[in-house]
Amino acid sequence: MKTDISHYQARRLELASRMAEGIAIIPTASEKVRNRDCHYPFRFDSHFYYLCGFAEPEAVIVVIAGDTPQSLLFCRDKDPEREIWDGFRYGPAAAQEMFGFDAAYSIHDLDQRIVELMADQPALYFPVGADAEWDSRIVGWLNQVRAQTRSGIMAPDQLRDIRQPIDEMRLIKRPEELALMRRAADISSQAHRRAMQATRAGRFEYEIEAEFLHTFRRHGADAPAYTSIVAGGGNACVLHYIGNNAELRDGDLLLIDAGCEYGGYAADITRTFPVNGTFTGPQKDVYQLVLDAQSAAIEQVASGRHWNQPHEAAVKVLAQGMLDLGLLKGTLDGIIENGDYRRFYMHRTGHWLGLDVHDAGEYKQHGHWRELQPGMVLTVEPGCYIRPADDVAEAFWNIGVRIEDDVLVTTDGCTVLTHDAPKSVAEIEALMADRT
Ligand code: GLY
Ligand code: MN
Ligand code: MN
Repeated sequence: MKTDISHYQARRLELASRMAEGIAIIPTASEKVRNRDCHYPFRFDSHFYYLCGFAEPEAVIVVIAGDTPQSLLFCRDKDPEREIWDGFRYGPAAAQEMFGFDAAYSIHDLDQRIVELMADQPALYFPVGADAEWDSRIVGWLNQVRAQTRSGIMAPDQLRDIRQPIDEMRLIKRPEELALMRRAADISSQAHRRAMQATRAGRFEYEIEAEFLHTFRRHGADAPAYTSIVAGGGNACVLHYIGNNAELRDGDLLLIDAGCEYGGYAADITRTFPVNGTFTGPQKDVYQLVLDAQSAAIEQVASGRHWNQPHEAAVKVLAQGMLDLGLLKGTLDGIIENGDYRRFYMHRTGHWLGLDVHDAGEYKQHGHWRELQPGMVLTVEPGCYIRPADDVAEAFWNIGVRIEDDVLVTTDGCTVLTHDAPKSVAEIEALMADRT
């Protein structure tokens, strides 16, 4: 599944029109050393990639706004010697053609050309503060332009963050992006099904993590979109647990937060299920409470509702459940007001999802929660995490539950992209009863 270059060209034109005037410099990510001469797998910068689909390192996009907007690419040269070691690289000529730029140049020409391009531009856009090295390089170029002012050249006098207009564009997913997100969601849902079927007491968390890696790569996903959380028993109460090295025990729950990146886009799914395939009474109570909270939150995902409405709905259901289960004492309004519920539900109910798992886009505008609009994609992920404590019934100790789905806002409500990952008690128990 490849995005047509015309989509990227249209995005660069839209960006130029949002800038109105000036020049933008958008570098991709830098390669990161893991140890000695080994690098982490290269992952492009999401803002850069959104505008071109070009996945090589050492590349920079330049967009010049105005009556005749222009978009330029600086990238690595062809290099037959390096290509023997590291593989194919486009080189400027082929990259210009394949990715639809007005012109493309060697990355080695950047220092010289960019100073010429910045001359007489009123505004300079770049990802201000995203990377100290790029900040100082770009300000260095700016100073070179300023040094020419006596020959009548004007230097940009407005510095702006290019991420702001790109973030606004990224927030509303276009059809070609949604196709990739649906695929990421499908592959990840399938991986959760496989994990449920592979789980049994005596296996280790990492063996179940391996089922995810297997399914992701088998279906052409790039990589996990984030480090998978595979947390048996009390480990589920550690929100960012990534040790994934404990043995799974009969009678415990297993919480898995894992999703793949496909074509650059993330899925983000959490499921919680019993290691032995059957929920105990107290596990079922907490699980059903979280599921009810999630349903209430998803009902609030609709065009025109504001960002915080799903969270407020989830908190209300969870807080009532905490009272009903005897985890908390007081009144519903009281424990919401004073925040007591946070002892068992300490995170928020979701975030934007897209090229980044915690995707671009503001949650508030002018001090108010943002209105949901068709094309936005968010996660809905309530949870309940009960650590051992003297004032909590022992039956609930170490029960940690989160249920997370990826939800697209549509014109008439919403669509759950991750619906193929089972989540009702009956669906989970039926799938797990089927294990061979
Ligand atoms: N997996 C990261 C998150 O749920 O936010
Ligand atoms: Mn999430
Ligand atoms: Mn997650």
